[in-house]
Amino acid sequence: MSTTRFLTGITPSGTPHLGNYVGAIRPAVLSSQRADVQSFYFLADYHALIKCSDPARVQRSTLEIAATWLAAGLDPEKVMLYRQSDVPEIPELCWLLTCVTGKGLLNRAHAYKASVDKNVAAGNDVDADVTAGLFMYPVLMAADILMFQANKVPVGRDQVQHLEMARDIASSYNHLYGELLVLPEVVIDDNVATLPGLDGRKMSKSYNNTIPLFTPREQLRKLINGITTDSRAPGEPKEVEGSALFQLYQAFATPEESDALRQQYAQGIAWGDAKQLVFERLDLEIAPMRARYESLMADPAQIEKVLLAGGARARALATPYMHQLRQAVGLRSLAKVDAPQSAKAHKSALPQFKQYREADGKFYFKLLSATGQLLLQSTGFDAPKEAGQSIARLQQQGTAALAELASRLAPVEGVGSEDVAQALDQLLAAANA
Ligand code: TRP
Repeated sequence: MSTTRFLTGITPSGTPHLGNYVGAIRPAVLSSQRADVQSFYFLADYHALIKCSDPARVQRSTLEIAATWLAAGLDPEKVMLYRQSDVPEIPELCWLLTCVTGKGLLNRAHAYKASVDKNVAAGNDVDADVTAGLFMYPVLMAADILMFQANKVPVGRDQVQHLEMARDIASSYNHLYGELLVLPEVVIDDNVATLPGLDGRKMSKSYNNTIPLFTPREQLRKLINGITTDSRAPGEPKEVEGSALFQLYQAFATPEESDALRQQYAQGIAWGDAKQLVFERLDLEIAPMRARYESLMADPAQIEKVLLAGGARARALATPYMHQLRQAVGLRSLAKVDAPQSAKAHKSALPQFKQYREADGKFYFKLLSATGQLLLQSTGFDAPKEAGQSIARLQQQGTAALAELASRLAPVEGVGSEDVAQALDQLLAAANA
């Protein structure tokens, strides 16, 4: 089965609330359980530094968010769960990308432009209080995504422009250095419910109307009792349309349960009773997670261990890929320097792929070094197209394609993986010269 890589980052700032749970955490945990999906979740703590200069808060929020995702059912054995700052290849890639990113592209980023506009409106210097970190944010986000060759990136609408920029930046790199970076696609789920907050407006930190996801049970009851309702008395029929309380219930209840409450509204349920019902239904789903959350928060060292293990797994992917990306731009060992050559001489000195048919009717390919030594030997393909596609992948992706093609390659005696890597790198470099 071919798997699609999903990747998403969560900036650790603030405490997760019910809106985050329903809109992002719950759907992400569900999708991470699909067999055809490989999920990457990371705590974007480098991003947090852009907005927050309170070290204790960065640490606290990283801990809370990690505990929240684990408590909500993210299985660190099945998904990649790591902390951005545990993968030094990300800032390393960020610099390579910075060097192919037009400053004009970043000038157009919404977050940066909003700050500039605010300064202009206030009569300040355009860049007053704008850090280079804010300006560079889209490049760091591109590095997060491109580092792991993610295919799909689920984000909120406000992040769509950043995804477009990540694609632009990847294309610039690929144009200059070869098709090494995978262009990511944005995934926006418009069905995802946005929850109303305590005052009926969208639940959001900036409106100060949130219900913390793991607030203690009695506190949750209190907060739900505080949700704005109208002044209709018990016995008076009530409408579910526009009722924040009902929407909250719907986000947790089954369709049948929601229908039942709709009827009770029509029959004039008292607001106090409705609130009690909604509270109990929410707490039913939240209580087991809250218990896990509390025990996780009581043992931060255990969370640290989980994140470090995830970071090590992420680096096992990032380190060899970063090596290729460095090679491609010319950050290479000096032990073997390609002498400048005429195009023709250069070409004749390159490794070569050969595609051919054997007596068994199957199609094969092999890779020969510049001096004719056999480096790679394929197994038989039923169609010539398949052999051709495998060659194309090796030509375009170099050693990155080797793992996926492993089952189609026969062992070649006396050839080290270094020799193969060198030949593939050479082909990549020549293709992009
Ligand atoms: N910028 C994202 C947000 O504010 C968080 C984020 C950082 C992210 N890096 C990412 C999301 C990479 C997706 C992919 O929500």
